[in-house]
Amino acid sequence: MSGYQGPLRILSGIQPSGGMHLGNYLGAIRKFVELQHQYECYYCVVDMHAITVWQDPAKLRAQTFHIAASYLAAGVDPNIAAIFHQSAVGAHAELAWIFNCVARLGWIDRMTQFKDKAGKDKERASVGLYTYPVLQAADILVYKATHVPVGEDQKQHLELSRDIAGKFNHDFDAEDFFPLPEPLIKGPGARIMSLRDGAKKMSKSDPSENACIFLSDDSDVIARKIKKAKSDPEPLPSEAAGLEGRPEAANLVGIYAALSGSSDAEVLKEYGGQGFGVFKPALAELVVEKLSPISAELRRLEADPGFLQKTLGEGAARAAAVADPVVKEVKEIVGFLP
Ligand code: TYM
Repeated sequence: MSGYQGPLRILSGIQPSGGMHLGNYLGAIRKFVELQHQYECYYCVVDMHAITVWQDPAKLRAQTFHIAASYLAAGVDPNIAAIFHQSAVGAHAELAWIFNCVARLGWIDRMTQFKDKAGKDKERASVGLYTYPVLQAADILVYKATHVPVGEDQKQHLELSRDIAGKFNHDFDAEDFFPLPEPLIKGPGARIMSLRDGAKKMSKSDPSENACIFLSDDSDVIARKIKKAKSDPEPLPSEAAGLEGRPEAANLVGIYAALSGSSDAEVLKEYGGQGFGVFKPALAELVVEKLSPISAELRRLEADPGFLQKTLGEGAARAAAVADPVVKEVKEIVGFLP
C-alpha cells in the first residue's frame, strides 16, 4: 500500500446483470459479511457496469433490488456497511472520466475480460465495455479503498486499479493521494467453476441453466442441478493431489470444502474412495443447508421493494459523503476551477 496513511476501507461491487449465484456468494458476498466487522465497508450494486451490455430497464431495476437483497440476506448489515447502487453516487462517473485520461490504451488493451465478453465481433461492443475496468478503478478509489474483496477473475482489474492510482499520484505529484488497493482474493471459493464444464467459471451469463446454482433456487432445483453436474467415472481420491486433471471433481470437492469451512484434504479424508453416487447427494444436502436460510430471507426482502429502496438511498447518502470530497480534491489537483 506504499506510504498511504489513510483509514482502512473496503469497496466491492456486484453487477445486477443476472441472478446471484454460488460463485458470487463464495467468492465475494461471504467475504463482505466477514469483513464488515474489521473495516469501514462500501458495497455497491454496479448498475453502470451492467449496462455495458444491453439490459432491459425493468429487469435492471428488479435485478438491482435482487443484488441488494442478496447482500442483506447473506448477512451484510446496512447499519454497519453502506449498501447502495453505483449510479446513485455521481462521483463514480466523474472520477471515471478523469481516470479515462490517466489510464493508457495499452493497459486496457490487455484486459482479458473485454476480449472474452466482446468475442469476435468487437467492433459492435459498446465503448463502455471497453473502458469498464476504468470505471471499476473509480469505484474503488473514489472511497480511497485500501482493500477489495473479489473472486479470482477480478485480479487483472485490480492490478489495473493499482496502476491507475500509481500513475495519478505520480503524474500530479500527489504522493500517496490514492492508496494502491490490495485485492482480497485468497480462500476457498475464490474460483467456482460451471457445473457443466470444469474449465469454465460459474457465470450469470452462462447459457446453460444447469451450470449455475442461484441463491433463488429451491432445494429441488439445487439437488437436480448437482445430480446433473458433470463428473467422471472414477471414485474420489483420498488425497488432494489426486484431483489434478479432474477439474469437475476438483470443483465439486472445492464447493463442499468452501461451504463446510474445511479444506479439500479434509473433504477427501471423509469421501475418498466414494463415487459421485454418494458424494453428490451429500454435497446437495450441504448446499441446501447453507443456502436455504439465505434464499428464504432473500425472497422475504424482495417482496419489500420499499424497504430496499430506502436502504439503498441511505447507503448512497453515506457513500456520497465520502466520495464527493475525494472527487472535489481530485478536480483541484487536476487543475479544474471550483
Ligand atoms: P461480477 O458481478 O461478475 O461478480 C461479482 C463478484 O463475484 C465474484 N465471482 C466469482 N467468484 C468465484 N467464483 C466464480 N465463479 C465467480 N463469479 C464471480 C467476482 O470475482 C466478483 O467479486 N467487475 C466486477 C464488479 C465490480 C467491482 C467493482 C468489484 C465493479 N466495480 C469494484 C470490485 C470492486 C464484476 O464484474 O463482478
